[in-house]
Amino acid sequence: MKLKVGILGATGMVGQRFIQCIQEHPCFEISALAASEKSAGSKYKDVAKWYLAGDMPEHISGAVVEEIDTKIISKYDLDIVFSAIPSKIAGKVESDFAKHIPLFSNTATYRMTNDVPLVIPEVNPEHLNLIKIQKEKRKWKGFIVTNPNCTTIGFVLPLKPLMDNFGIEYVNVATMQALSGAGYDGVPSMAIIDNIIPFIRGEEEKVEIEGLKILGKFNNKGIDFADFSVIAACNRIPVLDGHTESVFVKLKNDFEITDVIKIFNKFGGVPQEMKLPTAPKRPLIVLNDEDRPQPRLDRDRGNGMSISVGRFKKNKDVLKFTCVSHNTIRGAAGASVLNAELALKKGWI
Ligand SMILES: NC(=O)c1ccc[n+]([C@@H]2O[C@H](COP(=O)([O-])OP(=O)(O)OC[C@H]3O[C@@H](n4cnc5c(N)ncnc54)[C@H](OP(=O)(O)O)[C@@H]3O)[C@@H](O)[C@H]2O)c1
Repeated sequence: MKLKVGILGATGMVGQRFIQCIQEHPCFEISALAASEKSAGSKYKDVAKWYLAGDMPEHISGAVVEEIDTKIISKYDLDIVFSAIPSKIAGKVESDFAKHIPLFSNTATYRMTNDVPLVIPEVNPEHLNLIKIQKEKRKWKGFIVTNPNCTTIGFVLPLKPLMDNFGIEYVNVATMQALSGAGYDGVPSMAIIDNIIPFIRGEEEKVEIEGLKILGKFNNKGIDFADFSVIAACNRIPVLDGHTESVFVKLKNDFEITDVIKIFNKFGGVPQEMKLPTAPKRPLIVLNDEDRPQPRLDRDRGNGMSISVGRFKKNKDVLKFTCVSHNTIRGAAGASVLNAELALKKGWI
């Protein structure tokens, strides 16, 4: 039997991706859609500005949107919820839900909280053990598991095999981020067409710290953060979906690009071993053409769950590469769904 799922923020950019990722899922079925007061009580099709290719699924279009309130747990007999709400309201809302049932969040609010797992299943699946600590400390029936910021995930996934094989001294990353990353009402067209905006509020701070938690070690009480520094320069560009990032990594041990390519090509983790439904066969896809990866051409690889990597260069002990990831799939809804699949398979749900 499938688990009944509620989506908080169901009308937004990430909420729509949740609908797309879950609509034919073997373990989850969408039971409740919730959004702000202004949408609550209306049919989904009348309030959601559908931005995905293809039609809105029929059973969703006529569903009535609920207000974001824990009453929906009993009304729809929910087993888990996915959250894609603004961080300014997530503090109370997400903990109210997690008191009762497991919640998988895209929001920044709890990512850096000590007892909350911040997980990329191929990188740090063992961090889910924080769930036990979180539940005991807070006396909750449910729990919160978070996935990283859409920009963090793109470069931290390739950093994992680099860290394991060569060690990392520091990382510099310059990002070119898609418009959907800012939400539907995020960036006015007059500001972005024919332009690049070299500032995204709060983004560089998140990108510089989240990876160190993810690449840190679970020590049975908490996480010992990875001990290298990250400097990020984040830019908004006129692309709809798909974040592109130029990454410069100072490695501790000598390397050859051919070794890096081999390591990336064979990289996989628990989701691939366990054949989780949303796991891409290859989390990292190396592209050899001199002008790839590109967001329009490469963001949908692995159903939007693979990260495309190319443009390798070696300068002494610094490795440069470029990666493209789908920000609302691998960087948001798909990441949460993969976390939920892992938690289910590992018996946390
Ligand atoms: N977009 C990305 O690539 C991405 C990636 C990773 C993480 N995230 C995070 O995911 C969350 C959602 O992002 P998004 O891009 O989907 O934003 P969005 O398109 O602006 O959607 C926001 C959603 O939250 C609802 N909402 C807004 N204000 C609310 C309020 N006061 N009370 C209750 N519900 C409210 C909206 O409902 P109405 O339609 O009724 O207003 C809508 O469903 C954010 O925390 C964002 O930082 C986004």
